[in-house]
Amino acid sequence: MDLTVNIAGLKLKNPVIAASGTFGFGREFSEFFDLNLLGGISVKGLTLAPRKGNPPPRIAETPAGILNSVGLQNPGVHAFVRDEIPFLRKFDTCIIANVAGNTVEDYCRMAEILSDADIDAIELNVSCPNVKEGCLIFGSTAEGISKVTSAVRKVCKKTLIVKLSPNVTDITEMAKAAEYSGADCVSLINTILGMAIDINSRRPVLGNVVGGLSGPAVKPIAVRMVYQVSKAVKIPVIGMGGISNADDAVEFMLAGASAVMIGTAGFVNPYVWIETIEGIKQYMEKHGFQKVSDITGALIE
Ligand SMILES: Cc1cc2nc3c(=O)[nH]c(=O)nc-3n(C[C@H](O)[C@H](O)[C@H](O)COP(=O)(O)O)c2cc1C
Repeated sequence: MDLTVNIAGLKLKNPVIAASGTFGFGREFSEFFDLNLLGGISVKGLTLAPRKGNPPPRIAETPAGILNSVGLQNPGVHAFVRDEIPFLRKFDTCIIANVAGNTVEDYCRMAEILSDADIDAIELNVSCPNVKEGCLIFGSTAEGISKVTSAVRKVCKKTLIVKLSPNVTDITEMAKAAEYSGADCVSLINTILGMAIDINSRRPVLGNVVGGLSGPAVKPIAVRMVYQVSKAVKIPVIGMGGISNADDAVEFMLAGASAVMIGTAGFVNPYVWIETIEGIKQYMEKHGFQKVSDITGALIE
């Protein structure tokens, strides 16, 4: 049984990747299971300078997912290269550096630094809804995506993934802009803007007032967007949004995803990534798939 996938030159041992921001730099989860088992790890979103993130509370539970307004708390790209890459490199898995900037220059500088670092791919987060300046501004229009992607492409020596926001009118236009501007791959979806109110205090639950919704609540929207995007572009698609088990992962692959990322479900079940890999194998046996890549786009319409 062949579980490997090749995403624009990025060779994964299996199609299951930890989603950015939900797995830190892997240290905590390495106490639960062997990180060598993962297809890849997308690390917490990095910025050029360290960031403290937004005021608390930053997480609110909802009936079928969570709202977060972490606001890209991270130690900065230099500390990542110095302190985290040596730890992550102990494991035989693909390391994807997720980056967010306030300006095109920020994104380019980080892409330069990370192109010389021992990582496998760069994921441009142009879709974080939880920071005031930059980031989502780029991801909200085809022009913005084009501007940042083409500038980064010129300096990026790694596989370039552009992570799309669902907070747009037509996601296929955003994906086409990324493809046209030199992205090797697109990943989607990031969180969907949401809000919760405490009716007794009559105040917003989150310190930042609004936040990003993730988890099972967003899955049907994410599957629809992956399906539409995979039909609109020729580059590979990495799908995510509410995946909690192997059945969900297979659903994304049938919709056209070459690989999947899992985030929020890991807060409920820290073994979700490895259980998903096992479950995909069982699905392949049951349905006679020799190669996992044959599931991609195998939807019957
Ligand atoms: C607490 C939290 C922090 C996140 N931080 C980032 C981030 O730094 N960069 C990024 O691109 N996406 C970030 N995301 C979005 C996830 O990577 C993912 O796109 C989204 O949560 C949908 O997948 P899920 O439903 O499996 O969590 C974050 C999500 C959560 C819940």
